[in-house]
Amino acid sequence: MADKPTVTIIGLGSMGQALASAYLEAGHRTTVWNRTPAKADDLVARGATRAATVSDAVWASDLVVLCVLDYAAVDELLAPNADVLKDRVVVNLTNGRPDQARRTGEWATAQGAEYLDGGIMAIPSMIGTPEAFILYSGSRTAFERYEAALRVLAEPKFVGTDAGLAALNDLALLSGMYGTLAGARHATALVGPERAAEFTTSLLIPWLQAMANILAPSSAEREAGDREAGDLPSEESPLDMQAAGLANIIEASRSAGVGVDLLTHLLTPMRDIIAAGEGDVLTDLVEVIGKEIRS
Ligand SMILES: NC(=O)c1ccc[n+]([C@@H]2O[C@H](COP(=O)([O-])OP(=O)(O)OC[C@H]3O[C@@H](n4cnc5c(N)ncnc54)[C@H](OP(=O)(O)O)[C@@H]3O)[C@@H](O)[C@H]2O)c1
Repeated sequence: MADKPTVTIIGLGSMGQALASAYLEAGHRTTVWNRTPAKADDLVARGATRAATVSDAVWASDLVVLCVLDYAAVDELLAPNADVLKDRVVVNLTNGRPDQARRTGEWATAQGAEYLDGGIMAIPSMIGTPEAFILYSGSRTAFERYEAALRVLAEPKFVGTDAGLAALNDLALLSGMYGTLAGARHATALVGPERAAEFTTSLLIPWLQAMANILAPSSAEREAGDREAGDLPSEESPLDMQAAGLANIIEASRSAGVGVDLLTHLLTPMRDIIAAGEGDVLTDLVEVIGKEIRS
């Protein structure tokens, strides 16, 4: 234990509990604090040290991990404790926007701390498993010094010294997830509750995996320089064909009594693009979304 950095976890909701458990299991001396103290009881019974105050919690460890609901809570917790942050490494794993991460990073650095912002790409039960990864941005020196300790939680991925980059990538990945999950919910609603479980296992999951795979160019395409990762295959799926299919999904959904809001917001701008002759391939869906945001 002596060579392992001491760790503090501030915030013991579902995620904070999982983070603290992972450090306890990995043999790190672990201090915990939560606004509602009883949430620390189980961790303390398993060997964690309960800090009486946030200030004590920050004092206790080399690495201070914050994982609370939002940045308003982060501000409430850190602002009165500016005097104890000097020489601490603050790792803020609270979900937020890039501007909030930058502001907190600048403020913490001004107090003499090193700051890492993080985006957890996992649910609590995935912490410590190979599927989990966490995005980090901010102090590269702090990241490199504590990389092994950060690896206890999940695969650590450093995305840049701009403290806002982890949040930016986190929110972008979550938007991909919410779009996918909402689409999956729509799909199961359309087939109906009796068939939903079998449909999900045998058809929906393989289909979504196949569609995710088209984001990666084939080795032939890569060698030919035809397509970058993330570009959709052009020419194969014209936009007017997409619009006709989407209209069918919307009509079938209406007939089945399934809400269509998820889809109608795509169809109108898609038809606008077709009418304006601005594009005709699947890649133009990106333009559809962008056009909605700009309008
Ligand atoms: N759970 C997930 O699947 C998941 C996945 C990825 C990322 N995350 C991120 O992890 C962070 C924590 O999520 P969670 O799942 O642990 O949420 P949670 O179970 O709702 O817990 C929220 C935590 O924030 C604390 N908190 C809220 N307001 C506070 C305040 N004003 N002052 C002090 N503490 C305050 C709560 O304290 P009390 O116990 O006293 O209420 C609790 O410890 C969030 O930013 C979330 O986006 C969660």
